[in-house]
Amino acid sequence: MLAPQPLHQIIYHSLATGEGMSPEALADLLRQARAYNQAHRLTGLLLYAADTQEFVQVLEGLQAEVQSLYAKIARDPRHKHAFVLHEGPAETRMFPDWRMGFAPAAAHDLHTITGYLPLVSEPAHLRPPGLAVHAPAQLRRFLADFARPLATDE
Ligand SMILES: Cc1cc2nc3c(=O)[nH]c(=O)nc-3n(C[C@H](O)[C@H](O)[C@H](O)COP(=O)(O)O)c2cc1C
Repeated sequence: MLAPQPLHQIIYHSLATGEGMSPEALADLLRQARAYNQAHRLTGLLLYAADTQEFVQVLEGLQAEVQSLYAKIARDPRHKHAFVLHEGPAETRMFPDWRMGFAPAAAHDLHTITGYLPLVSEPAHLRPPGLAVHAPAQLRRFLADFARPLATDE
């Protein structure tokens, strides 16, 4: 029997380029993202703060899928300064029912999220073993509590 494949998670922060994302541009992005994610068994949450043009996104799925999607996202000209806040194994999906949930956020919500995470200065594969921690429990709780009543996947 095949061993179950471990789940992986990346949480990153970035800044929209130009004038930021119009509602139409966000809708286009989400349409594209949800089709791809569904086909690749990826799930997650995208938060966007229009006031400061900041994104925070949670990507979860099989490690190779998450990493290959993140590599594409990081090169996307619709945003810049993509910065990984957390990367590592995940025991369960935080957002199992969302191909890509979306919620508008305020900058202070995103700063609460970034405040839970120590800044990671080097990529996961260069960190000493044992430092690839699970996303802190408080962060998981905040994301779930914050997103559940707000986010949609349609
Ligand atoms: C903030 C942001 C979040 C994105 N999230 C996803 C996503 O969850 N899934 C996805 O397939 N594409 C997502 N994209 C789009 C990808 O960056 C990229 O356009 C898409 O993977 C197609 O890439 P390709 O043209 O190189 O195949 C996102 C883009 C941005 C700017």
